[in-house]
Amino acid sequence: RNLKWQMECRSDIYRLNTQFLSIYESLIPPEEEKAKQKQLLTLLEKLVCKEWPEARLYLYGSCANSFGVSKSDIDVCLAIGDADINKSEVLLKLADILQSDNLQNVQALTRARVPIVKLMDPVTGISCDICINNLLAVVNTKLLRDYAGIDVRLRQLAFIVKHWAKSRGVNETYQGTLSSYAYVLMCIHFLQQRKPAILPCLQGMRATYSVTVDDKKCAFFDQVENLRDFGSRNRETIAQLVWGFFNYWAYGHDYTSSVISVRTGSVISKLEKDWTRRVGNDRHLICIEDPFETSHDLGRVVDKFSIKVLREEFERAADIMHYAPNPCVKLFEPY
Ligand code: GTP
Ligand code: MG
Repeated sequence: RNLKWQMECRSDIYRLNTQFLSIYESLIPPEEEKAKQKQLLTLLEKLVCKEWPEARLYLYGSCANSFGVSKSDIDVCLAIGDADINKSEVLLKLADILQSDNLQNVQALTRARVPIVKLMDPVTGISCDICINNLLAVVNTKLLRDYAGIDVRLRQLAFIVKHWAKSRGVNETYQGTLSSYAYVLMCIHFLQQRKPAILPCLQGMRATYSVTVDDKKCAFFDQVENLRDFGSRNRETIAQLVWGFFNYWAYGHDYTSSVISVRTGSVISKLEKDWTRRVGNDRHLICIEDPFETSHDLGRVVDKFSIKVLREEFERAADIMHYAPNPCVKLFEPY
């Protein structure tokens, strides 16, 4: 089907590919941004250690999972060994400490779903969210980063998909569309499903990394330097994969009965997960299983209005990849 598409519809496939690659390159953060992030982290470590000498800070999210574009905020997790702490108290104390060290816009959001302290560092210009003891996010960050180390096409595809989602306004969980984390999982799953596969299923392999977080065992193969040729039998280029990705979510995915699962490297059934009906606010209209919190559907934020928006956007993107004369412009047009 891909070949047919190339020959009949898109004789401009090579040009298209070059264009996608240059969009990808332009989104990669420059080295000096990494250095600034390190600098801010070191400052935060110094401040935190005065109050909680045993505590540790971890970067998570897009600044550490290798799917961060230029000028992203950074996500930091403060790990305090004691499980019985009162998170609100710690956050308020932390906000106090940060405020008195000239950090700006310091705000403790103690009632958020994930309570955090927000701040802006005037020296580096970086904004930062700090959460407490959210170690699962640190572990899923590592999983994503390890997948990115296997085949560069994952990072290319995910950058394009995230850029598309932000441009089209469908990366807003509070409006019922999907998180960046969900989009990256969709990309990993898609590349696990290619024939031949471009990515393996790390959680299905012999575990070389294993931790237990909140009573959940998180184990997977993490020696990804040994998997560098894994996808080499598949020669698909980024333009083909972008097309395939949108085509899958527009016309290939079975929204009625399927769940995508990076954990198993396959599509599993809603029936098996008991995700067939609405429970509380979880409607399961698009099902994306969290790789470690397996009872957690990352599509839970999607409601009967936003599912329509999302599916129309997938169809628009697929159709653009098929027919539009200039997909690299049209795809990212602001909504
Ligand atoms: P951008 O900031 O949009 O570039 O992307 P991001 O990768 O930082 O994504 P996001 O802000 O959506 O999430 C930050 C991190 O929080 C993710 O990388 C995950 O580690 C974690 N995370 C986000 N949402 C969830 C969730 O629903 N469940 C779990 N377990 N972790 C989540
Ligand atoms: Mg983030």
